[in-house]
Formats: sequence, structure tokens, C-alpha cells
Amino acid sequence: MRYHLTTFGCQMNDHDSERMRGLLEGLGYAPVERRDDADLILFNTCTIRGSADERFLGNLGDAKRVKRERPSTVVAVGGCWAQSMKEEVFREFPFVDIAFGPSEVARLGELVARERIEAVGAFSFDGAFSGSLPSRRERPHQAWVQMSVGCNCVCAYCVVPSVRGRERSRPPADVVAEARALAADGVVEITLLGQNVNSYGRDLPREGRETFAGLLRAVAGVEGIARVRYTSPHPKDMKADVIAAMAECPEVCEHLHLPAQSGSTRILKAMRRTYSRDRYLELVGRLRDAIPDLSLTTDLIVGFPGETEEDFADTLSLVEEVGYDGAYTFLYSPRPGTEAAANLPDDVPPEVKRERIGRLIEVTQRTAAARAARFVGTTGEVLVEGPSRTDPTRLRGRLRHNIAVNFTGTAAPGTLVDVVIEGSTSTTLSGRQVGAPVQADLVPA
Ligand code: SAH
Ligand code: SF4
Ligand code: F3S
Repeated sequence: MRYHLTTFGCQMNDHDSERMRGLLEGLGYAPVERRDDADLILFNTCTIRGSADERFLGNLGDAKRVKRERPSTVVAVGGCWAQSMKEEVFREFPFVDIAFGPSEVARLGELVARERIEAVGAFSFDGAFSGSLPSRRERPHQAWVQMSVGCNCVCAYCVVPSVRGRERSRPPADVVAEARALAADGVVEITLLGQNVNSYGRDLPREGRETFAGLLRAVAGVEGIARVRYTSPHPKDMKADVIAAMAECPEVCEHLHLPAQSGSTRILKAMRRTYSRDRYLELVGRLRDAIPDLSLTTDLIVGFPGETEEDFADTLSLVEEVGYDGAYTFLYSPRPGTEAAANLPDDVPPEVKRERIGRLIEVTQRTAAARAARFVGTTGEVLVEGPSRTDPTRLRGRLRHNIAVNFTGTAAPGTLVDVVIEGSTSTTLSGRQVGAPVQADLVPA
């Protein structure tokens, strides 16, 4: 039996997809390149913005075609879009055989087995953490570790709490045990995953409860793990103990993805982010005091309901003031079931949104380029990932600051090497491995 899996959305879905692969391959399924060759066509979906739905629906149309040509093909849809649709999936898309939500990954095997009897749906929030399921990791030396699922925040624009459910923390012993097993399997870099990582542990029974700071220290202490990252923290929960853990654990990398969403206090309030521009900036100051040369990246939404030119100017100036190393910028998209979609008219005209995001991208790229240039002339530690995508004679890896580096060198994937940085753009650096033998074809005759 052969399967084809397409993944949309964030790292949570990338991680869940590794588990889906692990489960299916354990059942004897082998991956195939083309949907046309698959017995099982599987999608792991996202519904964060309208554009995510559209991208997926285009792909689902392709699966419909395959199913028409070869009716024995099983079409399965998992993830956040499926959860948002529930049983409606089967009414609107009758060629779908299986639909399941993000916390039902563990039941995928059972659903696939039962499929021939009836179209099956599984939508509940009591599934096990997919983090404890078998996995087929995409990258041998880097791994995601699920530490919590769901989100208790009430950000007015966001569909995640309604599709991923209330926040549930994975027991700390399980997280650390997985980190140990990964280290034994050759992993050197771990990224802890959760929607709001720093509210971790509040739902755990008092016995054996751990804070996020404590968990970070425990994972950093696992033998063989050289780098620890995490994503994403909510600025409101970023407390002194977490900053201290980052500063004190040499394994925790000098990079933080700290979503701001807007630079306008008025808009932040309407978004229910529960911090002001000033409090966000004050937090950035404390982080930078504690962790010298910290890289910061962020998420920004353009055109939230009621956003005036003045509010938007506050977002532009926030980017300048913080000096982000990178930023993801999104056009506001009203999502069914969210507070903003219900109560706030989507009143920023599309052409205004587009014009604003153009200006914002210009500023974020300029800032990121200026930040990246600080590495030129320095030597940094790079975790080698493999050959460069653009030039296979060179290598690719990442600094602790999470910026990609293409470089000349000879090191094997999974090793940490020193690289002299010689050039930069807004998104990548280039350089040369220290002490690497000069390639013969580069030596002048
Ligand atoms: N839990 C994470 C990520 C949530 S989704 C966090 O809080 O950081 C990733 C990003 O998508 C968000 O940070 C936000 O910038 C963006 N986003 C979420 N809902 C959106 C919407 N309705 N329209 C536009 N962007 C949205
Ligand atoms: Fe969505 Fe806010 Fe939760 Fe992030 S913190 S997942 S933006 S509700
Ligand atoms: Fe992630 Fe999209 Fe779901 S961003 S949590 S896959 S809605």
C-alpha cells in the first residue's frame, strides 16, 4: 500500500505529519511522490487564514480527480481545517472517506482500517499527544518536541483555540524522556513546540508539575542536545524565570520568535493581546539586557478591523525600534467563529491592506538586512544540515541565531562547525568553514 501526504500550516502540523508518516509506515504503507500512484491520499490541513483554506481546496480538487479515475483510492483529511468543518466535510466533499481533527492523529491507523465500511470522522479534544506516537523524522539531527497542545488565549482574530482546543501540557517527564531518546538517535537540536509555550504546566496536577522555565532547563540538560529552541511564547507570559533560563543555559539559542501582531496599543487591545506597545518594548529591553546579541523575529498582522494609518505607522515604527531579524507579515483575514469576525467589521479595504503590507515588508526586509550584516567578519557556530539548496558544492546550516548560512566546507551533516561569515542578505549569510581544506578547483593554477 502506498500513501501520499501533503502538509499545510505551521510547525505543529509538520510535527503531526511526521507522526502520521510514522504510523502509516508502521502499518506497511510506503510514501509515493505522486498522488496518482497513491492508495491513500492524505492531507494535514490549516485554516489560519482564508488563503490557507483556498490553497488546500485547490489540492483537494486534485484528489477528487484521482478518486474519480481510480475509485479505490482513499482520501483522508486531517488537521485544523477538518476540525473546523467537522461532519460538514462529508456533506460538502462526498469523495472524502476519512476526516479527523488535530488531536486524533493517534487514531489514524484505526480510521484507515475502518474506512472500507463507512466514511469516518473523529473530532474530539481528548486524543493523546501526537508527540508520543512513532515518528518518521524529516531531519536526522533536528527534532520538534511537542510540549503542549491547544491554546487558552482569546486573541480576537485567531481560530486556533477553536480548532486545537484548550491548552493541555504534556507531562514534563514525557518531554524529557523524548528528548533523551532523540539524543540517543543522533539529534543535536530540539525545538519545543506549543501555541503558547510559556503558559506551560498550569493545567498539570500539582504532583510533578513543572514551569516552562524548569522544562527548558531540563531539556537543555539532556546529554547530547547542543541546541534548544522553542516556539512560540506569548509576550504576556514571558516572565523573569524564562529569561533567566535562556540566559543561563548555554544550550538555549540566542533567538526568540516573539509575536507582536501590531505596534499600536489601541489595536493590541482590540486584538485582546493583553499587552501594550510600551510593555512589549520593555520586555524586549529586558530580554536584550539578559541575552546579549539576541535575535528577534515576529509575526505582524496588517489591516485588523479599525486599523487607521496612524495605528499602522505604529507598527512600522515598532519594527524600526525593535530591529527584528525577521518578520512574518499577514493580511488580516476574518475567520469564522472568532470574536473579531463576529463583532468587528473587516473595514480596511483590500487595496489599503495590500499597500500597507508592501510598506511593512520593505521596512522588515531593510531591518533584517541591517541586522544580518552584523555577522559579516565574525565567526559563528553552524549546525550543518546538508548541501546548499542553490549550490550543491557548498553546505547549508544555521547559526544559533537561527539564520541560514551557505558555506564552503567539508563537515558532515549534524556536526557543529565554525564558519567565517563573509556576506549577508536579509535572510541568509554566506561564508567559509574555519580550517576547511580549500577545494582544489578554487585554488588558482
Ligand atoms: N500560537 C502562535 C501562532 C499562531 S498562528 C502564536 O501565538 O504566536 C501564526 C500567526 O498567524 C499569528 O501569530 C498571527 O500573526 C497570524 N494570524 C492568526 N490569525 C490570523 C488572521 N485571522 N488573519 C491574519 N493573520 C492571522
Ligand atoms: Fe492564536 Fe493568540 Fe493562541 Fe497564538 S496565542 S494561537 S495567536 S489565540
Ligand atoms: Fe497551525 Fe494552521 Fe492549525 S497555523 S495550528 S495548522 S490553523
